[in-house]
Amino acid sequence: MKYIPFLSLALAASVTFVACVNSSRKTVSEEDWIEQTLAKMSVEQKVKVIHAQSKFSSAGVPELGVPELWCTDGPHGIRPEVLWDEWVQAGWTSDSCVAFPALTCLAATWNREVAALYGKSIGEEARYRDKDVLLGPGVNIFRTPLGGRNFEYMGEDPYLAGEMAVPYIKGVQSNGVATCVKHYCLNNEETNRHTVDIDLDDRALYEIYLPAFKKAVQEGGSWSIMSSYNLYRGQHVSHNHRLLVDILKGEWGFDGAVISDWGGVHDTDEAIHNGMDIEFGTWTDGLTMGKTNSYDSYYLADPYLKKIRSGEVGTEELDDKVRRVLRLIHRTAMNQDKPAGSMRSPEHYAAARRIGDEGIVLLKNEGLLPVKPETKNILIVGENAIKSMIVGGGSSSLKAQREIYPLLGITERAEAAGASVKWVRGYVGSTDNSYNGVKSGQDLSESRSAGVLIAEAVEEAAKADLVLFIGGLNKSKNQDCEGKDREGLELPYGQDEVIRAIVEANPRTAVILISGNPVAMPWVDDVNAIVEAWHGGSEAGHALADVLWGDVNPSGHLPFTWPVALADCPAHQEGMAFPNDGKTFYNEGILVGYRWFDTKGVKPLFPFGHGLSYTTFEIGEARLSGKTIRKDGSLKVSVPVTNTGDRAGATVVQLYISDDEASVLRPAKELKGFEKVSLNPGETRTVTFTVKEEDLRYFDADAHAWVSENGTFTARIGCSAGDIATEATFTLI
Ligand code: BGC
Repeated sequence: MKYIPFLSLALAASVTFVACVNSSRKTVSEEDWIEQTLAKMSVEQKVKVIHAQSKFSSAGVPELGVPELWCTDGPHGIRPEVLWDEWVQAGWTSDSCVAFPALTCLAATWNREVAALYGKSIGEEARYRDKDVLLGPGVNIFRTPLGGRNFEYMGEDPYLAGEMAVPYIKGVQSNGVATCVKHYCLNNEETNRHTVDIDLDDRALYEIYLPAFKKAVQEGGSWSIMSSYNLYRGQHVSHNHRLLVDILKGEWGFDGAVISDWGGVHDTDEAIHNGMDIEFGTWTDGLTMGKTNSYDSYYLADPYLKKIRSGEVGTEELDDKVRRVLRLIHRTAMNQDKPAGSMRSPEHYAAARRIGDEGIVLLKNEGLLPVKPETKNILIVGENAIKSMIVGGGSSSLKAQREIYPLLGITERAEAAGASVKWVRGYVGSTDNSYNGVKSGQDLSESRSAGVLIAEAVEEAAKADLVLFIGGLNKSKNQDCEGKDREGLELPYGQDEVIRAIVEANPRTAVILISGNPVAMPWVDDVNAIVEAWHGGSEAGHALADVLWGDVNPSGHLPFTWPVALADCPAHQEGMAFPNDGKTFYNEGILVGYRWFDTKGVKPLFPFGHGLSYTTFEIGEARLSGKTIRKDGSLKVSVPVTNTGDRAGATVVQLYISDDEASVLRPAKELKGFEKVSLNPGETRTVTFTVKEEDLRYFDADAHAWVSENGTFTARIGCSAGDIATEATFTLI
């Protein structure tokens, strides 16, 4: 049980003590309280607070009024309670949550306000469940479309990921719940995540893989951060001196706590000296595999105490760790101003739906969508229309109070419009229906052959006014899942064949993908409408129906580049392996995502930032506030944006900057600003971006400094990286 000093009435002594803690808290500042508490703690008490006592909690110091610290996954909802030392759920009946859409969907909204709503809402759920630390958001860079956990991250661009993470973090932390931004850093693959040993040049590290974490820490003010499993330059990140001590705590001045990923610590000495603050989950790595409740054997438990007692190490590092842990506890568990929180509220369902509404991306539409009023019978084909996407996928798996599957949401909406809906399976993907004891309650068994399922789909498709194929990936092994990357870009389970067959039977077919990753589309030219609906959480089906019927005009834009083929992707260049194991060098350097495609002239299927609407937009001519920019100065770029269609809608105006006269390799262009703009038909608004001199810098690895070079730069503005409408040139002097 969680120890809550203010509410504990069991012992008179603790009541007296609480009164004293409460009154002292009113007058004593956080830092004073930390120092006073530290001074009272024995070495044993100090060591006790820097490692886990259960799967998701660390011990407090009850005798000093320091409460326990309780963590929860994250990042899409609040995980059900698990047993003390087991992953399996505890069987509570009061711990079901609202599942919010996956973070790829949030990133696809390109709307900071929606990110704030996400953070506030999930933070309230965490708060109500009395959690102190939410294990999320994830801001690892999407390096390859095979990344198993891309769905938990916010795309390929460091600026976009950072901009979306900051409001999420602030929203969560406004509830007195810490975010634990993960997985710091370079956790770009899953299959060999414990053994892959990454090296890359410093430019790529500082320009691509670190900025979202830096922003999360410095602008978001995240109170904790989770170290990743992988190694960097031969040392596990959980005790990597350069990443944790030099960069995170040194260069960025992070004053919070570093929490290890579960089982990510491997060495006592390194953990002592290299910046690890709280060790979680170690029995999973073989230290005491098979022995439960062996928390005292953790690298930062008895082995640390032994070293202190023998004089092999002092307590300076220990005190630094304890200060950070106490600070985290004071900001969360002991926070007296935190609101009560709430769970499963109508507001949270509405938030989940809004995130889905704004994140769903209309990739292609040749007049098929929105669904026409005269549509009377709709055929839905595909397993993802009825399969739970909330149960599965690894640590982000949830127990939701409800999940509106696409079939349900679409049927509700179709019936309201006087249409009928029929569903056929089309293919068999995964029949899994449980994760860590949470069951989706679905029976997905199927005895018919693939040929019979396709024949049924074709026969029904021919009779329908509209066919909606709903497939994609499904969070089972190798299909958007922790611990296992995807094995190829292709759609699994023979879905391409099903799509081809039904499109041939009925050209009025839209393909709707549920996934956190792009997939190959050998049928792209034959299909009239394509929608990326992401993993949508509790309100998935409602949000999808909103967009299909045009109740909500789609405004999601891709947070990653959608490649034609895997070989086109920078991490899959000739000679580069994936997944990797052991020593791995990121050959592509800074050319990640659209930076690669644009610079090398490789044509993607859909560019980064792409997303259609049921209306049309026009971006007018860019205007600059001046022709020059000075060191540490700035200038403004403005563009008029007009809704030229006949319905209200929103688009994302994106600002990219190119360095036209660089002496070093610069990407063809880089995202430096974006704004989501809602416009009524015929309405025009002017969007103004501020370009600062610091936006023009690159990281000079030799000088270990951000530098900009005098010369010409071009601001390019458009609705995707592949659709630049206007540009303007200025000079840095
Ligand atoms: C995952 C983390 C997660 C932790 C606790 C690890 O396996 O990598 O993202 O927060 O487990 O469930």
